[in-house]
Amino acid sequence: MGLIITKWACAFLLCCCLITSGVYSVEGLHGSSKVRGVNLGGWLVIEGWIKPSLFDGIAHGDMLDGTEVQFKSVTLQKYVSAENGGGMNVTVDRDVASSWETFRLWRISKSEFQFRTSEGQFLTCDAVGCSVSATAKSPSKSETFEIERNEKSRIHFKIKGGAYLQATTDGYLTADYPGTPEWDDNAATFEMTIVSNSLHGDYQLANGYGHDQAKDILRRHRNSFINIEDFKFLYKHGINTVRIPVGWWIAFDPDPPGPFIGGSLEALDNAFSWAQEYDIKCIIDLHAAPGSQNGMEHSASRDGFAGWPTSPDYISQSLHVIDFLVSRYARHPALLGIELLNEPAAAAVSLDVLISYYKQGYQIVRNYSSSAYVIICQRIGVADPSELYQANIGSHNLVLDLHFYNLFDTFFVNMSAVDNIQYIYKSREGQLQALNNSNGPPVLVGEWVNEWNVTTGSKNDYQDFGKAQLDVYNAASFGWCYWTLKNDREHWDFEWNIRNNYLQLGNSPRKWSLNILGLLLRLGCTWFCLPFF
Ligand SMILES: *[C@@H]1O[C@H](CO)[C@@H](O)[C@H](O)[C@H]1NC(C)=O
Ligand SMILES: *[C@@H]1O[C@H](CO)[C@@H](O)[C@H](O)[C@H]1NC(C)=O
Ligand SMILES: *[C@@H]1O[C@H](CO)[C@@H](O)[C@H](O)[C@H]1NC(C)=O
Ligand SMILES: *[C@@H]1O[C@H](CO)[C@@H](O)[C@H](O)[C@H]1NC(C)=O
Ligand SMILES: *[C@@H]1O[C@H](CO)[C@@H](O)[C@H](O)[C@H]1NC(C)=O
Repeated sequence: MGLIITKWACAFLLCCCLITSGVYSVEGLHGSSKVRGVNLGGWLVIEGWIKPSLFDGIAHGDMLDGTEVQFKSVTLQKYVSAENGGGMNVTVDRDVASSWETFRLWRISKSEFQFRTSEGQFLTCDAVGCSVSATAKSPSKSETFEIERNEKSRIHFKIKGGAYLQATTDGYLTADYPGTPEWDDNAATFEMTIVSNSLHGDYQLANGYGHDQAKDILRRHRNSFINIEDFKFLYKHGINTVRIPVGWWIAFDPDPPGPFIGGSLEALDNAFSWAQEYDIKCIIDLHAAPGSQNGMEHSASRDGFAGWPTSPDYISQSLHVIDFLVSRYARHPALLGIELLNEPAAAAVSLDVLISYYKQGYQIVRNYSSSAYVIICQRIGVADPSELYQANIGSHNLVLDLHFYNLFDTFFVNMSAVDNIQYIYKSREGQLQALNNSNGPPVLVGEWVNEWNVTTGSKNDYQDFGKAQLDVYNAASFGWCYWTLKNDREHWDFEWNIRNNYLQLGNSPRKWSLNILGLLLRLGCTWFCLPFF
């Protein structure tokens, strides 16, 4: 008799579990709550500024892929120039260096490089005696130069055939310097200026270290930067979602095309298990697409060019990545959605190309899942996010992702703390309301941070700024995700903000009671009924 009653009780509890879990799987999140998320930036897609020490061990680490350099002949006192930015002979005749005189490095080894012009061609020299031109569309042997560097900033260029380049008196660059130059003022010696070496992404890291060492460094980073304890921390603080940036090479694990390094798939699998354990949902975000959609390190650009929209191969490869990701995770209970592409640059990616890609991506996700959210990101640069509203990308569970930083624009430089807060309430809130009222997809503020250009902000100022942002972004129809969980710069670091009380989240009690009810029910089911079935 007792056993029968217990079985009935169990059946009742199981029903409760099924009903509640039915609600979860439809809504994704508990009850009617929205996304309160954190990005796992700098983990499976490397960003050097988030963890600079990753790059410490690279020899000639100031000459990574994409570094922008200029060369001045010490005899002529003129800069090397690719006339018209490329496509013609190279001259050594400029007094002032600007874009035609700036070359981006492609690193072959710590002493061998190729040089890309501002229009995208490569410097080339086919044999001893050549006059260097900027006419190669893609680089191989004839476009590879050895660089010898002295302890100052002086360099020599040597071609594969062994000859050194020199600046001729009539202003050309030719491969016919007789013998081996010294470091004095001679025609084969140039001053090298590093104009910018701001790119520190997966490409720079892997190509800078070389495959074996990079594999070691990335294995350690992926295993340690984020772990299950972080998910416990997020859960404890009421975070219900993580947005996980991934690179396109994840679909080719364990042996992606070089220089990219396998292993990020296993880390993503781990994230899904940890998320499930702590009742957190995952958004997978294609942050780095093949060819790069914005020329930045966080899209794994090799050299600052955004080649993604220029090749149908890159676009179809990206769709393949979406197919791979959704086929792998569609049935995982922790999946909330797939973001098709992060921050395409308006200057490089036309709206037509983007919409066509988003429509195909939407269909691919729907092929595997009727409920997973399909998230589309606004273009960065000068673009109105409502441009994506009229596009008819998909009819069900489509979400628009906007990124809000009071940074990266001279507009915010010298703004006071009060001005910054006003800007959140007036401009950001106004934009969210306008989008809310225009009958389009719900909005996710997929990236924001408790940092600004104010240099004298007190703890109190930061608390006020954080509160203003939470006030406004809490009203975004889909919710928000903070950028980012961990960061060398403490104000960007979510855990630091919480531990030091710079960001005060404030939990909604209703959601907490639902959480606890759900947890009790499930624990009850498992522990109470295990012995009887
Ligand atoms: C480059 O210079 C060489 C030698 O001066 C000349 O023969 C050739 O026509 C030039 N090429 C271009 C593309 O101007
Ligand atoms: C959806 O799946 C079917 C069957 O596997 C396939 O033929 C079709 O091309 C897929 N559609 C998309 C958009 O991938
Ligand atoms: C910011 O203030 C400094 C110092 O007053 C000034 O030199 C600079 O031009 C200002 N920058 C902008 C973008 O307003
Ligand atoms: C958007 O609309 C929802 C529901 O209509 C509302 O709760 C929310 O406050 C609105 N958000 C904004 C920013 O207007
Ligand atoms: C503020 O803006 C200036 C100019 O763009 C930049 O150099 C500085 O790093 C910024 N400061 C912060 C805290 O972002």
